[in-house]
Amino acid sequence: MDLKDKIDPQRLPRHIAIIMDGNGRWAKSRGEMRVFGHQNGVESVRQAATTAAELGVGFLTLYAFSTENWKRPKCEVDALMNLLVLTLNSELGTLMENNIRLRAIGNVDQLQPECYSQLLDTMEKTRHNSRMDLILALNYSGRWEIANAAQKLAEEVKNGKLDPENIDQDLFNNYLETKDIPDPELLIRTSGEYRISNFLLWQAAYSELYFTPKLWPDFRRDDLYEAILDFQNRERRFGMTSEQIKPLINK
Ligand code: FPP
Repeated sequence: MDLKDKIDPQRLPRHIAIIMDGNGRWAKSRGEMRVFGHQNGVESVRQAATTAAELGVGFLTLYAFSTENWKRPKCEVDALMNLLVLTLNSELGTLMENNIRLRAIGNVDQLQPECYSQLLDTMEKTRHNSRMDLILALNYSGRWEIANAAQKLAEEVKNGKLDPENIDQDLFNNYLETKDIPDPELLIRTSGEYRISNFLLWQAAYSELYFTPKLWPDFRRDDLYEAILDFQNRERRFGMTSEQIKPLINK
């Protein structure tokens, strides 16, 4: 039996988020420059996106460039931006064939201009696709997003548009980049590191975390199936007891 056939289509995570890590080590172990790892990570992106869409996952978010990644050597940052431009352009066909809508979260208008305009172009061209949303986290970090939301809320209070007493979790959520996106039920990190690294800090409050030693350029369809199967074998309690949650699941 294929791994895919073991997946219960009724209990798929609606939203999967992935911290794609290990590109540099993958390249180094082959005596290559770090950018070679990023280039080879593109095939993993393609496989993760098409596999998730085929299964019926609604949202896939990939951590492609963090606000901290600007601190990397300029040649690596430039190579990453260039790779993003090339990939967004060359993968338009894959996105259209698979009916995938491209979206982005993060401080995207501060990306390099060529990258930002390619991103806008691909998002516009895929706007009407409806099978899955592929969300790229670009120039993104969880703390940036939360501080940004707080600033927007404070502006509205200052302008008399918002009463501080009305600020609760649901309202706060509306000021986040992900306001119309459900929280990720499954958060995957590759490369054997056990960290969240400033990714979706608010949204991952109840995410199931899955860590694999695979380096991102080695991540393939079966690795995604394995992560989903692992997720389906877990009991999600949201602070309740096992006895309380079972009747709710079996409803
Ligand atoms: C982390 O590995 C990876 C990144 C910072 C970039 C991810 C980018 C891609 C997979 C390229 C294409 C992406 C898209 C969406 C088209 P690392 O460099 O931190 O690896 P290391 O921990 O081994 O050094």
